[in-house]
Parts: sequence; structure tokens; C-alpha cells
Amino acid sequence: MTNKPQIQLALDYFDLAPALAMTQIVHKEVDIIEIGTPLTKAAGMLAVRTVRELCPDHLILADIKSPDVGGGEAKMAFDAGADWMTVLGAAPLDTVKLALEEAKSRPGKEMFIELTGIRDILTRAHEWRSIGVERMVYHRGWDEGNLSRTWDDQDRDTIRELIHMGFQISVAGGLGLDMISFFQGLDISVFIIGRAIRETPDPAATARKFREAIKKNN
Ligand code: 5RP
Ligand code: MG
Repeated sequence: MTNKPQIQLALDYFDLAPALAMTQIVHKEVDIIEIGTPLTKAAGMLAVRTVRELCPDHLILADIKSPDVGGGEAKMAFDAGADWMTVLGAAPLDTVKLALEEAKSRPGKEMFIELTGIRDILTRAHEWRSIGVERMVYHRGWDEGNLSRTWDDQDRDTIRELIHMGFQISVAGGLGLDMISFFQGLDISVFIIGRAIRETPDPAATARKFREAIKKNN
């Protein structure tokens, strides 16, 4: 039985070694392990392969945020052992189509649209839905979170509408324990947490606290 909503640990590291150390500490407390975008650039698919070896039974998401060559990048991530991969929302529809085709040709594999920086989300969402996209990462980007953007009612309204359209929504972007209740009443599929777990003195205990908060919220 899967826990729903699921918890995804984002490994946004610039080196493989600390990512593997954090995986060892936290993996038992989470459902999904994300090979974060910087880590996919620093260590490539070796990061996916190594985390797959450490955690043979976990779901693994490669947060590639593919902008082009969607079919090839999806194949590369899945061949390395990822179950899920992301395509940038700004990518051409053909890129999304090719990545989706690759995912759908392989059992259990899924492609997510990643919404970093997309402004006309609902307009684009109709196009994505029309070609069969089912899952999205609703993401308040790391940099905009640090500099200028807070989560607000507009985010909640957009997420509600996306769920109404039939998308399964993962949420990400500076989420702390205090933010979980913000999503109350929304049928969120996956909570993606990075810094708020990794950068605490006891990341495994913090992940357990997230699990409790999410359960209480539902
Ligand atoms: C950055 C990402 C991160 O994985 C995402 O923002 C989750 O990490 P955090 O909880 O630290 O914000 O995709 O582009
Ligand atoms: Mg990420």
C-alpha cells in the first residue's frame, strides 16, 4: 500500500558523495528519492544508478527538467534506473510528446511537466492534457523563492484547477513543516522536500515529522 500523499526527498547537491550519505540517512522515511537538478549536472546518470543500487525498492525521480531532446533524455534517465523524470514546462510540445512516448512505452515509468518559471500555466496545461500528460511538479523555483516569490492564494487556485483538469500534482519549492497546512483541502499527490529535511540536525527525524504533518493535514 502506498502512503498518499507521498513524500519525496530532493537531493539538490553539487557532488555525489554528500547525496549518497543523505540517502543512507533518510531513505527509510520517504517514498521517493529525487536526484536533484544540480546533482544530475554534477554527476549525471551515475547519480541515478548509484542511488538505485542503494535503494532498489524506492521510486526514483531524475529531476532533469529536460528542455529538448526529450525522448533521448527520458530514455537515458530510465535506462539508469529512474522511474520518473521531468521535462521543463517551457519545452516545445514536441519535446514533451517524445519524452511522454518514451515513458509510456515502458511499464511503471512516468514523465512529469516541471513548472519552474511558467506563467501561463493553465493555458499550457490544456495543451499538455490534450497529448496525455498526467503528472506535474508545481514548483516555486528556488531562486524566486529566495528573492521575490511567496506561496499565495493564486498558487492554491491554480493547483485546484489543475487537479480539476485531471492532473496529479506534486508540490515543491522551499516547503517547510509550517507550509504543509497551506495545501489543506487540495488532493496533493507528492510533497517534495529538500532543504527543510537535509539542512536539519536530524534529517531522518525531520522526515518523520513531515510524514506526520502530511497525515494530519489529510
Ligand atoms: C530546484 C528543485 C528542488 O528540488 C525543489 O525546489 C525542492 O527543494 P527545496 O525543498 O529545497 O526547495 O527542483 O530547482
Ligand atoms: Mg528538484
